[in-house]
Amino acid sequence: MQKPNNRLAGQTAIVTGGSSGIGAAITKSLALEGANVCINYHSDQKGANEVADWVADNIGANKTLIVQGDVGREEDVDQLFEQTLERFGTLDICVANAGIQKDFPMHEMSLEAWQAVINTNLTGQFLCARAAIRIFLEQGMRPEVSNSLGKIIHISSVHEEIPWAGHVNYATSKGGLVMLMESICQEYAPQKIRCNSIAPGAIKTDINKDVWSDEEGLEKILKLIPYGRMGNPEEIGSVVAWLASDESEYINGTTIFVDGGMTCYPGFSQNG
Ligand code: BGC
Repeated sequence: MQKPNNRLAGQTAIVTGGSSGIGAAITKSLALEGANVCINYHSDQKGANEVADWVADNIGANKTLIVQGDVGREEDVDQLFEQTLERFGTLDICVANAGIQKDFPMHEMSLEAWQAVINTNLTGQFLCARAAIRIFLEQGMRPEVSNSLGKIIHISSVHEEIPWAGHVNYATSKGGLVMLMESICQEYAPQKIRCNSIAPGAIKTDINKDVWSDEEGLEKILKLIPYGRMGNPEEIGSVVAWLASDESEYINGTTIFVDGGMTCYPGFSQNG
């Protein structure tokens, strides 16, 4: 676990899907850097409470706020950002992390499964980024806490680059995030907004538990990871904390892959 630091002191972050897995680890990492964090959750209230309790026990009281909401619904996103501002007074960092998978072979995929994934994974990230940009522009520079007007971090996936048979809705949503993130950078970098993505590879969470909890599944997934092991949520959290800080100030409009080399296509090491 990352050591407590103060790189984000005086700043406020929203983490969507902050109640479990990668989102929970991101919340803890940002809090360890001194940020206030609004933990958004969709259905896992217990998980959100546990993350908030962890922050209270390990870092301090009154550092988190919990807000339920579906990131694919405009009114939920609006109230998520409003409540965060009401509670903490400012917003400096938006981590659009909430994401789902609904896997089917393409010919068996219903329109509903397609739309549900696009709605959460892509439209949800648009709505959150838009809400954050509106606040950043209105709020103005806060040189006492950061050199940037605000930071947006999209949690994407290696599947923004690697096609994924049987998961066309998910891969398409992540591919769309590349253009969302790059276009936001192009549009708002002049105002000193930084917008980047982090693309995790196979990180051990509930989303892929059916794969890693099965011996054969684990063996197969490890063949796709040159580094020879799956990642931990904390290994995403620490990169988010750094990417939100001024240490990475000149990074804008790019994706950082945190994947143990998965995007180096290990299948080609003895083939092709
Ligand atoms: C998916 C996981 C998968 C990983 C690597 C992630 O984006 O959510 O289910 O294990 O990519 O394929």
